[in-house]
Amino acid sequence: MTFPRSFVWGAATAAHQIEGSPLADGAGPSIWTRFSHTPGRMTNGDTGDVACDHYHRYPEDVALMKELGLDAYRFSISWSRILPYGVGKVNERGVDFYRRLVDALREAGIRPMATLYHWDLPAALDDRGGWLNRDVADWFAEYAAAVFHALDDGVEWWATLNEPWVITDGGYLHGGLAPGHANLFEAPLASHNLLRAHGRAVQAYRALGKHAIGMVVNLEPKVPASDTADDLAAARRADAYMNRQYLDPLFGRGYPEEMPDLFGEAWPRFPAADFDVIAAPIDFVGINYYKRGVTKNDPSHWVERASLVRVPGSIYTETDWEVHAPALTDLLLWFRERYGAMPLYITENGAAFSDPPAAPGDVVEDPLRVQYLREHLAALERAVAAGVDVRGYFVWSLLDNLEWSHGFTKRFGIVHVDFATQKRTMKRSALVYRDFIAASR
Ligand code: FCB
Repeated sequence: MTFPRSFVWGAATAAHQIEGSPLADGAGPSIWTRFSHTPGRMTNGDTGDVACDHYHRYPEDVALMKELGLDAYRFSISWSRILPYGVGKVNERGVDFYRRLVDALREAGIRPMATLYHWDLPAALDDRGGWLNRDVADWFAEYAAAVFHALDDGVEWWATLNEPWVITDGGYLHGGLAPGHANLFEAPLASHNLLRAHGRAVQAYRALGKHAIGMVVNLEPKVPASDTADDLAAARRADAYMNRQYLDPLFGRGYPEEMPDLFGEAWPRFPAADFDVIAAPIDFVGINYYKRGVTKNDPSHWVERASLVRVPGSIYTETDWEVHAPALTDLLLWFRERYGAMPLYITENGAAFSDPPAAPGDVVEDPLRVQYLREHLAALERAVAAGVDVRGYFVWSLLDNLEWSHGFTKRFGIVHVDFATQKRTMKRSALVYRDFIAASR
């Protein structure tokens, strides 16, 4: 395959999924600390209390990245380590953890990309309404400024939010993710405040930072299950809800015209001035791509009135996601067509499969993940060849980790983690990725 020499090859993780020790060194609890300690919320009652123990084992993990020849590493910062109460006095011991991590990465020649918010809101702010309180935009800007001040020397890319759609759909509409609300009326308010908070952080960065800042969205091309008018309309609604709801305002277009119909009486009136904040110019967009969504009309489903159909003959992952790489090419072409030229990074892409246990000294064979990786890199190459300005790719994930409410039951890592011993073992996919990166230089 041919990619530009400057193309950035990386792997991604998130704080709550790998770090463990959520309350160490003066950190405050986050909504995920609470959620995972609420009976019935997590598969097997799993929590992030230990996870991959990356908080202590980060030198070993950076060494693994170096062994793989990664150019870059995308991680997230836990807000309540920096500001235990969400706002107020900075907890320097929490900041120091990320200083050590960034230093270790730089020493290994790995370029850091940091996400400010990968779902772990300080619990103290949730007590004040969390993403439903308009003040959250100020709180987030205050936190962002503290982090920029401490880490912008070493961090080359900043992502404000990871996946505002999942934060809202999982956290406020259906409740399967923290903070676990299921409320039609809250969802659009949470989304809007997430976007406002993003804009405020971007504005803060222009005054303080010297690198690049953008947002990470998860995009899922919605393909109608049939060519009936009902399914075509359902795919459009689902696309508006999941994809355009976030991208359109980011690019200064306001919300998609479908939104008032989707939310009905729950759709609020938003102050016009908010949209200028939301559309503050950014330097890149991060796209998380896992799957397409073959969509049929389904009035029983809240908001999008659509649901996904199973495609006969397709491979499905352990999270029941269809493997379909060509949609990644289509998605990138669609993005350029709709939003114009913008530097893009694939900030997550990967698959959960149930891998065999790791035997001492062995490589874990994960043929389905290897195939997933190969197909998606080929699909990415096609988009690059067509001239889409994609500049990097981050596989999800470096390590098997806490897959949110699924606990440790879904393994996405290219490196296997034995959660009883914390032993890391390379999977075949990691070695294939390593060789691929080496060959592309
Ligand atoms: C994405 C999340 C990431 C991980 C993958 C599998 O939605 O950003 O943290 O859970 O899915």
